[in-house]
Amino acid sequence: MDDIKEVKTVAVIGAGLVGSLAALAFAKRGYQVTVFEQRGDPRLAKNKNLRSINLAVSDRGVNALRNVDFKLCDSILQHVIPMKGRMIHHVEGELESQRYDLDNQCINSIDRGYLNDLLLNELDNHELIKVEFGRKLENLNLSGQPTLTFANLDIKSFDIVIGADGVFSAVRHLLQKYIRMDFTQEYIDSTYLELRIPPGEDGDFQIDANHLHIWPRHKFMLIALPNLDGSFTSTLFAPWDVMDTLHSDEKILEFFNENFPDAVDLITEKELLYAFHMHPRGKLLSVTCNKYNHTGKCLIIGDASHGMVPFYGQGMNCGFEDVDVLMALLDKHEDDVEKAFNEYTETRHKDLVAIVDLAKENYKEMRHKVTSKLFVLRKRVDFILTYYLREKWIPLYTMVSFRSDIPYSEAVARVEFQNKILLGIEGLIVGTGVFIGVKFLKWLGRKF
Ligand SMILES: Cc1cc2nc3c(=O)[nH]c(=O)nc-3n(C[C@H](O)[C@H](O)[C@H](O)COP(=O)(O)OP(=O)(O)OC[C@H]3O[C@@H](n4cnc5c(N)ncnc54)[C@H](O)[C@@H]3O)c2cc1C
Ligand SMILES: *[C@@H]1O[C@H](CO)[C@@H](O)[C@H](O)[C@H]1NC(C)=O
Ligand SMILES: *[C@@H]1O[C@H](CO)[C@@H](O)[C@H](O)[C@H]1NC(C)=O
Repeated sequence: MDDIKEVKTVAVIGAGLVGSLAALAFAKRGYQVTVFEQRGDPRLAKNKNLRSINLAVSDRGVNALRNVDFKLCDSILQHVIPMKGRMIHHVEGELESQRYDLDNQCINSIDRGYLNDLLLNELDNHELIKVEFGRKLENLNLSGQPTLTFANLDIKSFDIVIGADGVFSAVRHLLQKYIRMDFTQEYIDSTYLELRIPPGEDGDFQIDANHLHIWPRHKFMLIALPNLDGSFTSTLFAPWDVMDTLHSDEKILEFFNENFPDAVDLITEKELLYAFHMHPRGKLLSVTCNKYNHTGKCLIIGDASHGMVPFYGQGMNCGFEDVDVLMALLDKHEDDVEKAFNEYTETRHKDLVAIVDLAKENYKEMRHKVTSKLFVLRKRVDFILTYYLREKWIPLYTMVSFRSDIPYSEAVARVEFQNKILLGIEGLIVGTGVFIGVKFLKWLGRKF
């Protein structure tokens, strides 16, 4: 029985983005994987969500994909639209491009459904993977060999259970019966609504395709990410009380014409009203927990273990990185799963809480700070220091989005130090006379 070569069986709960990648990664190591997904197969027409919803994939996600399957990663990257910076839309209609990175590195807009379909196709093609749709996990018994109970009362046993069932994870909930898990869940006072900017009459993008567009209006904001078909998926983020005032056609148009006049032209009034009547309002929450494992039997990853608000574009990227970190630990411990799970729990937590916090803070930056002259000036100084100091000085956004070799927690520690120095420099500027200082920086900044 205890033959060393015996193939271990893994149950992955959730065929979302993270569960799919995890299934593929385990199968590539020779594990026998079954994926259970409560919903129907999203590739079947009747389950197709006709709205195109996109997200930004950046270095951490790309790196993890590449490590699992080089070719798959390449084919995914052929279907992205690189975004080199933010395009700020001021109320008066003026546009301002703020690039993300001194070396012009980009984050990439990709269709969420397309990415999920592509991953599912890969699972179908792998002989060690079976995917079962319409299977909702209801119970988990970890006393002996892990057993799963599904909604139809079916019971199945596996060696390992991976919970990748999203922010309202059943696995996380059930795991709490077995381990002492700290757990926090916090809603922010904002909601979101998805809109669409269609292609222009010529079929081409109506606004620059290689930017993430933001209409920052302090308490609320509108954003837009490009799709390959020439359209943009646009999202309105606003406090619930603001959204609640938008209950009639009149109020909606009045609000948009006042705050986002150029966006009304792009979306069209008709489509705007349609979206407000038909699309759901989304909740935005953060979830953290600790620990993540029960011995070597069960581990939660992805949104199931770290829900974050979407403002750093890192939720999926971080979930993909979870898979990468886990696989590296299985390598290190020669597939001693218990050792790998233990070390994952011990080492991963600080990075997960770091990005959950960063994501919360970035909401303020996107809807408010980007409009301030001081913010733009600070970014310039940041870039200038990067230019001269290189590896010794890296802007936070660059570390989070373009440097998968720097863990989230280290990025936070480094930026705390950098911020102290930036404050010092600002003090110096005030000391030597604001006017001369600003002129000097503007002069210096022209090259940047
Ligand atoms: C508006 C918005 C914008 C975002 N933008 C970005 C972005 O730009 N970049 C980025 O990296 N991230 C972004 N994210 C975050 C990203 O969408 C998530 O982090 C990612 O989808 C998490 O993947 P997951 O597989 O962990 O969970 P999910 O995608 O939630 O998948 C979980 C799966 O588990 C299934 N499931 C749930 N319960 C059960 C059960 N009991 N039994 C069986 N199956 C079950 C679900 O049906 C689902 O298919 C954004 C999120 C939002 C809301
Ligand atoms: C869980 O599994 C153990 C051992 O396999 C068994 O003894 C126990 O009765 C099960 N618990 C429940 C609640 O089914
Ligand atoms: C999970 O991992 C930790 C290491 O952080 C280990 O000490 C612990 O035994 C594991 N938890 C459980 C309940 O098995």
